[in-house]
Amino acid sequence: MKVMVVGSGGREHAVIRAIKQNPTVEEIFALPGNGGIAADATCVPIAATDIGGMTAFAVEHGVDYCVVTPDDPLVLGAVDALTAAGIPCFGPDKKAAVIEGSKVFSKNLMKKYGIPTAEYRVFDDPVAALSYLCEKSEYPAVIKADGLALGKGVVIAADQNEAAAAIHSIMEDKVFGKSGDHIVIEEFLTGPEVSVLAFTDGKTLVPMVSSMDHKRAGDGDTGLNTGGMGTVAPNPYYTKEIAEECMRTIFLPTVAAMNAEGRTFRGCLYFGLMLTPKGPRVIEYNCRFGDPETQVVLPLLESDLLTVMQAVTEGRLSEVEVKFKNAAACCVILASRGYPARYDKGFAITIPEEVRPYVYVAGAKVQGETLVTSGGRVLGAVAVEKDLPHAVKKAYERADAITFENAFCRRDIGARALAALTKEL
Ligand code: AMP
Ligand code: GLY
Repeated sequence: MKVMVVGSGGREHAVIRAIKQNPTVEEIFALPGNGGIAADATCVPIAATDIGGMTAFAVEHGVDYCVVTPDDPLVLGAVDALTAAGIPCFGPDKKAAVIEGSKVFSKNLMKKYGIPTAEYRVFDDPVAALSYLCEKSEYPAVIKADGLALGKGVVIAADQNEAAAAIHSIMEDKVFGKSGDHIVIEEFLTGPEVSVLAFTDGKTLVPMVSSMDHKRAGDGDTGLNTGGMGTVAPNPYYTKEIAEECMRTIFLPTVAAMNAEGRTFRGCLYFGLMLTPKGPRVIEYNCRFGDPETQVVLPLLESDLLTVMQAVTEGRLSEVEVKFKNAAACCVILASRGYPARYDKGFAITIPEEVRPYVYVAGAKVQGETLVTSGGRVLGAVAVEKDLPHAVKKAYERADAITFENAFCRRDIGARALAALTKEL
């Protein structure tokens, strides 16, 4: 089989490594991939948002199956175009991808179908939003741009001044472009966060092992929000009882709600959950694998990824086995100092030979013979061990063996999960 994977991050590197294990796979094309992915796939310089370009490439090169992982091409309809050209795909069509593409849509969906989430109001007029915020007595307030915003469209405003500043920048200065035409203002929730990725073909839903992301740039959850600085799986807060409750009150109702709306979701549905004192609540849906959740979830998958993906596409997920190892994984992201704000790039990266199989590359390119940094999140060092303490230790050993100028990582990935374990949650 010739398989095409659209995207260029650490997540795509993890997907490609997993797909490569299927013996029927002859060639993998990454569009556009990156300097690290080039060791595992043929990188093709077509942007992940160039839907016409990717469709023409797939047809011309006889691609048998395509996996679309990033949010923008999914929301723009990449799967619709590829499917229309006869290429079977993993990923939701445009109508279903709106579950991530519009927060207004997803909040209204949850309200209509009784799926637990934070209380909210929608605004399309900054004056009305400001007057609501002036009357509001409870702070912090959570303000979200409606559309995609590279994970940065959420502001937790501590008081009225911060809230007003957020409204100005999102709705008037349009820092996220049209994504800020509408906003959601919602109730501030507290509790541990859990990411659950699930395979679904619109009939069956199979959750993957749970994980925990670390979104802030600095230790102790300080600093700016990032795409994610590290992950662990499984998430110790996500007990069997909570998993059963989420299946009953959130996962299956979401699949049913999307079907009822004529927007059947097929692909990987990502549930960003908060375990509040009142029970699990949906913080966000993503229409795709999370990054860097995928880098810990897929190494724990015992079943063959491509087989499961094809079953999703063909609507026969109930017929395949989706099994996870009884083990734990940790991913530590090495980033360019300054990320997620301004940072320098172009520094040579040294990865010891024995560490390479455990590295997923995100922001690097090949210059001459050398791999050099080209992005904020440069790579993730991963370990799979029998339990979380060993996985965290090993992931840091690997991360610390990799060098490039200006590198930084959080030193506390997994710390909260380890503390939860010792409290025997
Ligand atoms: P999102 O992009 O919707 O996942 O939001 C980014 C981060 O903001 C989440 O991972 C949470 O840490 C935080 N967040 C979002 N919504 C809320 C909320 N209603 N209450 C508290 N924190 C939130
Ligand atoms: N790690 C969160 C995301 O992929 O959106």
